[in-house]
Amino acid sequence: MKEDIVDLLKRINSEFSGRLISFGIEEYVLKLVNKSVLYPEYLNDRLIGFIAFYANDTEFKIAYMSMLAVDKSHRGNGIAVKLICKAEDHLKKIGFKYFDLEVLKSNVSAIKLYKKKGFSIIEEGTKRYKMRKLL
Ligand SMILES: CC(C)(COP(=O)(O)OP(=O)(O)OC[C@H]1O[C@@H](n2cnc3c(N)ncnc32)[C@H](O)[C@@H]1OP(=O)(O)O)[C@@H](O)C(=O)NCCC(=O)NCCS
Repeated sequence: MKEDIVDLLKRINSEFSGRLISFGIEEYVLKLVNKSVLYPEYLNDRLIGFIAFYANDTEFKIAYMSMLAVDKSHRGNGIAVKLICKAEDHLKKIGFKYFDLEVLKSNVSAIKLYKKKGFSIIEEGTKRYKMRKLL
């Protein structure tokens, strides 16, 4: 699965001129595979999307979405919504209270999706918003 994720992210990162992931993709994916909870979406043995999140903050019950990505040719079919729902179900089952994420201010489609799914902006940085959903 690691190589499938690296390939997908390389394709998506080039859409963002390298701004989505500005550090080593291989190392980033290795960390995701080893430390995050990951739900992949396959179609005919091809990875077409995934969500990865950390559920380590057992004290404050705050989870953090590290990545949500859907292959360009499969967008607009509700895959991202489905993956967010899977993540939320997982987090609710293990008693997490908040689901946080960061998004580039320029990423209008992702911001629209997150708002639709109940996330609100809780912090505004120079390049990114921090958003949170109460689970
Ligand atoms: C953001 C992303 C994950 C959405 O994936 P998707 O599977 O196409 O999303 P869905 O089909 O589940 O769309 C759900 C909602 O998101 C919003 N949305 C998704 N793509 C959109 C677009 N291009 N323009 C406007 N709104 C969009 C809409 O509100 C949509 O609901 P609707 O279809 O009822 O209008 C996908 O575009 C992607 O992988 N982008 C590149 C990576 C990225 O930006 N990840 C987020 C990093 S924080």
